[in-house]
Amino acid sequence: KKTVKDLDLKGKKVLVRADFNVPMKDGKITNDNRIQAALPTLEYILDQGGKAIVFSHLGRVKTEDDKAGLSMKPVSERLSELLGKDVTFVAETRGEELESAVNNLNDGEIMMFENTRFEDVDGKKESKNDPELGKYWASLGDVFVNDAFGTAHRSHASNVGIASNVESAAGFLVEKEINFIGGAVDEPKRPFVAILGGAKVSDKIGVIENLIAKADKVLVGGGMTYTFYKALGKDIGNSLLEEDKVDLAKELMDKAGDKLVLPVDSVVASEFSNDVPTEVVGENIPEGKMGLDIGPKTVELFENELKGAKTVVWNGPMGVFEMDNFAQGTIKVCEALANLDDATTIIGGGDSATAAQQLGFEDDFSHISTGGGASLEYLEGKELPGIAAISDK
Ligand code: 3PG
Repeated sequence: KKTVKDLDLKGKKVLVRADFNVPMKDGKITNDNRIQAALPTLEYILDQGGKAIVFSHLGRVKTEDDKAGLSMKPVSERLSELLGKDVTFVAETRGEELESAVNNLNDGEIMMFENTRFEDVDGKKESKNDPELGKYWASLGDVFVNDAFGTAHRSHASNVGIASNVESAAGFLVEKEINFIGGAVDEPKRPFVAILGGAKVSDKIGVIENLIAKADKVLVGGGMTYTFYKALGKDIGNSLLEEDKVDLAKELMDKAGDKLVLPVDSVVASEFSNDVPTEVVGENIPEGKMGLDIGPKTVELFENELKGAKTVVWNGPMGVFEMDNFAQGTIKVCEALANLDDATTIIGGGDSATAAQQLGFEDDFSHISTGGGASLEYLEGKELPGIAAISDK
């Protein structure tokens, strides 16, 4: 695939798809990681004398009413602060005002236009990759840089649609994500250990299958533990269970043999609450209790499995880390990864990335993905349409 370095940028109108789908509360951005992650590409384009036209989706838009609170304006302001440069904002996704703003850009200047999903109100044009829309956006620029890794699992007008109409290249973020995640899965330094958590087996089936085939060990924690326990005939009390995935859990375990490592103890409580007493129990959960975190013996077991690992991919928290009483498992796994010498450590986005950041470990990993769904699909071994559509070298 072409990367931004393969493009001649001087004086060119450079369309840049970023993933600025950032968490917001009351009109304020609560985490700007995705904006920070796009800066190297934007700075490079501007340094090369390109005219950057940046855009992204934000949230999900179905009706006119959904647009409230989903304008890109606050994002353009934060971007301007981070770049230390004016970012012209156009509150349109098409039309004369947008076109003249593009034509008024000087070399090294940057602008941003409105939420691409505002085009979804009238027939889901963005999300269904309406060919006319992709063509129109492509017509606004000379070249297209796709740096929206978090959106790469979507085939939308603002990524795949544009790339089908104009020369395109991957930005530095997309390149980095592919090098880290793709590198880990396809050519890992061994031992390669995967740690998978999260509430549901159903969300992780594809990842577990792919990583059983590729990793040396797959450590499982989080709520999905109890569906595996059920498949082994253990008592699970009131723990989370996906009844219809029990057979599948059994199949996965048969396939994995001793590669798959399950928790040996759990922190349990009588309610899904931080305000009730907790206790640590072994592999059978007493009646009336639910498992909400991995226990200390499991932490030790996982630490041992991680010793000497050269590549580690982690996706999904080990427990309900949002509640203090059930955060230790996730904290300890974070610590164990942070303390590994000489290993490539990767967090595959989503909740585990949030956990690592909230717990203050964000600088201790080789790579924290900016993708949630995208990194999961990538870990499943699927081709990401947003990346597939980028021009070949
Ligand atoms: C994400 O946050 O995972 C991406 O920005 C994609 O958003 P979507 O799930 O609404 O398509």
